[in-house]
Amino acid sequence: MGFWGDLGSGPKERVVGGSSVLAADFAYLAEEVRKTQLGGAEFVHFDVMDNHLVPNLTIGPAVAASLVRATDLPVDVHLQVSDPASLIRPFAEAGVSSITVQPGITRHLHRVVSEIRELGCEAGAVLTPATGPEEIAWILPHLDYVVVMSVELGFGGQGFIEGMVEKVRRVGEVCSLPVEVDGGITASTAPLMVEAGARALVAGSAVFRGDPTEEMRRIIEAGRSAVRRASGG
Ligand code: DX5
Ligand code: ZN
Repeated sequence: MGFWGDLGSGPKERVVGGSSVLAADFAYLAEEVRKTQLGGAEFVHFDVMDNHLVPNLTIGPAVAASLVRATDLPVDVHLQVSDPASLIRPFAEAGVSSITVQPGITRHLHRVVSEIRELGCEAGAVLTPATGPEEIAWILPHLDYVVVMSVELGFGGQGFIEGMVEKVRRVGEVCSLPVEVDGGITASTAPLMVEAGARALVAGSAVFRGDPTEEMRRIIEAGRSAVRRASGG
């Protein structure tokens, strides 16, 4: 089983954190990731943007392959591109662990998700703020996890959209897959998302604008303390 499968089949109280390297210093990518690992990060979130679906242009399979060689953390690819199907094989061959795609823009979603899994990666679907959980209901049996975006696609450092807390809760009502939350996650917003059922916290600017080890630790700890509060511990 992979990272998301293990998380999904493990105790429901387990909350994990990962950094979004979009906000890292790309000249020192491996070192930046190591710092977050020291702070407890258990995966790396890798945003791929194509200057077409979104205005931003980021990193691709070559950088992913280098990062996979440089870290023992699973690399979680978040595709924000107009033609995700053409990038599945290159990222799988780069050795990434998981790939997420967006239902509304992925033609032949079932085929793409199946290809991700056939190539040995785990597959997730991304819900943008405007997308409701009902839009992925049919594909849930073929997924390993669900991503709830709490900002619009395209950039790090945007403000958290409060209404997405309720979205996380609604996803939990329709499936038991682990939910990753992405966008505007800080030590203040992480507990709200965890209380709503999120299991994986992705944070970019909140981690890298300070000391990545300390900030990663603070965010994970904030999420886990929400679990402890909920269980009366
Ligand atoms: C937005 C990206 C996010 C972003 C998160 O399109 O998918 O992963 O990097 O960055 P912060 O944590 O700064 O909102
Ligand atoms: Zn992302």
